Amino acid sequence: MSRNDDRVIIFDTTLRDGEQSPGASMTRDEKLRIAKQLEKLRVDVIEAGFAIASPGDFESVKTIADTIKDSTVCSLSRALDADIDRAGEALRGANSGRIHTFIATSPIHMQYKLQMEPDQVVENAVRAVKRARNLIDDVEFSLEDASRSELDFMCRIIEQVIDAGARTINIPDTVGYAVPQEYGNTIAQLIARVPNADKAIFSVHCHNDLGLAVANSLAAVNAGARQVECTINGLGERAGNASLEEIVMALRTREDVLGLSTGIDTTQIVPASRLVSSVTGFPVQPNKAIVGANAFAHESGIHQDGVLKHRETYEIMTAEDVGWNTNRMVLGKLSGRNAFRTRMEELGTTFVSDAELNTAFSRFKELADKKSEIFDDDLVALVSDARASADHEKYRLSSLNVTSQTGETPVASLVVSVDGEEHSVEASGSGPVDAAFKALEQLAHSGANLQLYSVNAITSGTDSQGEVTVRLEKAGRIVNGLGADTDIIIASAKAYIHALNMLDANIQKAHPQV
Ligand code: KIV
Ligand code: ZN
Repeated sequence: MSRNDDRVIIFDTTLRDGEQSPGASMTRDEKLRIAKQLEKLRVDVIEAGFAIASPGDFESVKTIADTIKDSTVCSLSRALDADIDRAGEALRGANSGRIHTFIATSPIHMQYKLQMEPDQVVENAVRAVKRARNLIDDVEFSLEDASRSELDFMCRIIEQVIDAGARTINIPDTVGYAVPQEYGNTIAQLIARVPNADKAIFSVHCHNDLGLAVANSLAAVNAGARQVECTINGLGERAGNASLEEIVMALRTREDVLGLSTGIDTTQIVPASRLVSSVTGFPVQPNKAIVGANAFAHESGIHQDGVLKHRETYEIMTAEDVGWNTNRMVLGKLSGRNAFRTRMEELGTTFVSDAELNTAFSRFKELADKKSEIFDDDLVALVSDARASADHEKYRLSSLNVTSQTGETPVASLVVSVDGEEHSVEASGSGPVDAAFKALEQLAHSGANLQLYSVNAITSGTDSQGEVTVRLEKAGRIVNGLGADTDIIIASAKAYIHALNMLDANIQKAHPQV
């Protein structure tokens, strides 16, 4: 594809840059579920991870590469031999694989971070691209911190890496510093000045530190870039990356001025957003464009009246176009195991064994006893909750009892199994959740700091399940624990226990940019 085509390649990096959000780390199975949803969404490229970061990351990239057929699967690698070889190994089984290698090109990064002369940076970049091309045909090269790099130097390195075999050249705004006009100009200049620019697709990758990631990406495609790197819900390092749903819907809704299109099945956007939110425990703010709960809600009488008379008076796209109607009431108390399994498969969850199906099905039955109507979102949360407790289980909640009464201090009594042995603990607190967390700390002595506690109602109604996220930090490591239950105190205790189990698992991984 040449950059003159009006089709923009959507490169999703939720599983790599998105995972670099503090506390957003995901297990292999969670990543695979998201990758399957991204394939349904028809993203062109899935950046599945950074293969050399840890054995777990390698396995995730490999599993996704072995499973996904319709999207290209990509692994990040620094411009280092070992990184490139590891990425190549993880992608060996891919139907269509890509190695994405990068090195920093800004004066500040070259001097202080890499401690390399510009010539050495060019040399390393060319060597990395050649090595990657020996393993795979599809190689992307990124100039880290491009938005603070010198134009002449960028032209020089880009020409050489294209000659070495890079097919995609990515110009990241790594620190979210660019503004649209300037960034669009940079892209236009690069395309005009690099002599072999027509042999590669120019790509952009924008961070949202100034809230401009989407605007910058659109300015870049307007200037000739034909790949946009983005994430579901705008997840990503610091303030996040450009949000996939906003880019795709802006291109589609304003095709009249932008004249560009994507291959995305937009009806899969909301299910993808929900899945990523439920797996990472990062709630979507209600006023978030496209995927926020209020994105299509018309509160004022004048707006409601207008929409009823003629929808386009206040709506520029339909809720159905982005998949808002998919949260169907699907199952109830009388639904059988087959109906449950079929719906779960439609939602992207396959059970690896009968035992796993049976456990999830008995949780579904427990939920159906408490809640008459079960929606898709309930099922997604139920599976996340079941998998959270299956991950690594040093601690498991056996029972919980709280007393909370006007004028009295709440007390929580819990029975928790620790490595299979039951322990009882009791504590008081300023509220029942505080009491439950104090009791758990008495038992675990984790010494972790609670950074975030959030409760989300999964569906409407007072019988809704509460989905709780507990973010704990210990010695610089951040984990997000998840729990779901119709009783929010139980959901909270489960989320705290999940976070403790993750801290106990002590999974360490390398960060690509450190
Ligand atoms: O932000 C960035 O520069 C990156 C690169 C590794 C592409 O994530
Ligand atoms: Zn990035």
